[in-house]
Amino acid sequence: MTDHTLDLAGIGIGPFNLSLAAQLDAVADIDALFFDRAPAFDWHPGMMLPEVALQTSFLKDLVTAVNPTSPWSFLAYLVAQKRFYEFLNADFGAVPRQEFARYLAWVAARLPSLCFGTAIHEVRFAADGFRLRGDGGTVRARNIAVGVGLQPNLPAFAGKLDPRDHVHSAQAASCLDRTAGRRVAVIGGGQSGAEIVLTLLNRSRDAPASVDWISRRPNFQPIDATPFTNELFTPGYVERFQALSEARRRSTVAHQKLAGDGISPATLQALYQRLYTVRHLTGPHAADASVAARLMPHREVVDVERAGGSYRLLMRNGFDGRIDVAQADIVILATGYRFALPPCLDPLRDRLRLDATGRPQIGPDFAAAWDGPARNRVFVLNGGLISHGIAEPQLSLMAWRSAVIVNAVAGRAVFETDLPPSPVTWSSAECGRPVHDGGGRLDAAESLSPFEMV
Ligand SMILES: Cc1cc2nc3c(=O)[nH]c(=O)nc-3n(C[C@H](O)[C@H](O)[C@H](O)COP(=O)(O)OP(=O)(O)OC[C@H]3O[C@@H](n4cnc5c(N)ncnc54)[C@H](O)[C@@H]3O)c2cc1C
Ligand SMILES: NC(=O)c1ccc[n+]([C@@H]2O[C@H](COP(=O)([O-])OP(=O)(O)OC[C@H]3O[C@@H](n4cnc5c(N)ncnc54)[C@H](OP(=O)(O)O)[C@@H]3O)[C@@H](O)[C@H]2O)c1
Repeated sequence: MTDHTLDLAGIGIGPFNLSLAAQLDAVADIDALFFDRAPAFDWHPGMMLPEVALQTSFLKDLVTAVNPTSPWSFLAYLVAQKRFYEFLNADFGAVPRQEFARYLAWVAARLPSLCFGTAIHEVRFAADGFRLRGDGGTVRARNIAVGVGLQPNLPAFAGKLDPRDHVHSAQAASCLDRTAGRRVAVIGGGQSGAEIVLTLLNRSRDAPASVDWISRRPNFQPIDATPFTNELFTPGYVERFQALSEARRRSTVAHQKLAGDGISPATLQALYQRLYTVRHLTGPHAADASVAARLMPHREVVDVERAGGSYRLLMRNGFDGRIDVAQADIVILATGYRFALPPCLDPLRDRLRLDATGRPQIGPDFAAAWDGPARNRVFVLNGGLISHGIAEPQLSLMAWRSAVIVNAVAGRAVFETDLPPSPVTWSSAECGRPVHDGGGRLDAAESLSPFEMV
């Protein structure tokens, strides 16, 4: 570790803290180290399935949006790999996730401020700063950046499934070989569920006997990546969004879900085409073995029962209001992710201001509200879905967010983060009309229209 006091210590090195480390690399007078328990950088290895692609432009890389001359851009990586021209000629509609993961790993292998193989077990606060106890010793820091990602969201019924018979999508790649000849249920209609189902249907050797794809959403719904929806993934929108009341922010995030969590249209098309092949062009005499596939949208799995060596999944059917049942030998829970404060922050938990759902309240500079000295900050990355909006768990704004945090630590505008107004006028304040305050304010939950309460 180190025996002097750092300006900043980062816990976790996923893309978000990696971006912060990459932006900090341009700033000579900020002393920072970042720690990850993994032995090396590896971006969601359990979901590195064949032919998966990025859902974001490669220009929204670790640094470019704020610091395009950084040596840690995706383009710099392509040039270093000597495949700039080949990459352009390939003209990917969406960049292979494997390529972006290699870019991230390339940066991670070169930044001197990163320490892998070092879990942080406990963070305490003493008068002069934070003490991080990790593998290999203790480090002191004036500020910390918590970038530990999200946790798998496991429905209550998951506890009834034998560990050998189920897996969360975060580990999907590790269970594919176990599906050979078995009945598989994939629960969850987001991008993870879609990619897993496509992978299973594409298996010609060791294919499953059947695949049931169950989604609570009313249909297998696409991500909305059209221009005005992409405006939600801009710093200007985030700034307007933060100024809303908590009730309004919550309802807005729920309403905007598919802008971030829908399925890529290319994945939906590949799935539909594969289903066509499986249904009509394969059979006992085809080279390609046939997998029985059943797609069940608008079903919420509410419980599971053991039935001999397999499971009965009980589903509430939102289409016709009935209860449906599916049989499965293996269950893949593509049921998403949730925010949780990491256990290493337990000693600070009572000092952080948390909302009703246990999320820290995060300010415009990504520092969590707490009762400690203002000069010592707990920056939280990927925890601000409610405070900063749906861009927060996505790659889209990581370069900008990192720059905002760098400026806050430096106490000066190291990076230019202000942008001209968006082409969309979101708030009344921008219309030149007075913002209603006090008695006239319309931001209590009960004042929202049913549409906004979705
Ligand atoms: C399969 C998948 C694909 C995605 N693709 C896209 C995409 O194309 N576009 C997009 O915008 N978003 C995408 N996302 C969403 C999001 O961009 C990623 O989840 C991203 O990895 C989030 O980065 P992170 O740094 O917050 O967390 P993570 O990537 O989860 O990294 C957290 C790190 O913290 C470490 N850690 C945790 N606790 C400790 C501790 N106590 N001590 C030390 N280290 C610790 C972990 O080992 C891990 O390396 C995707 C998500 C998934 C699941
Ligand atoms: N290649 C890529 O770029 C890529 C790959 C994977 C993931 N991602 C991104 O990572 C994020 C997470 O994606 P994700 O697919 O893992 O999670 P997600 O988008 O949150 O999807 C989880 C799904 O599980 C459903 N669900 C939860 N409990 C259920 C139950 N009991 N019964 C039936 N359905 C249930 C949810 O329904 P509700 O919607 O009704 O809650 C939702 O459809 C997203 O932003 C996604 O875009 C990107």
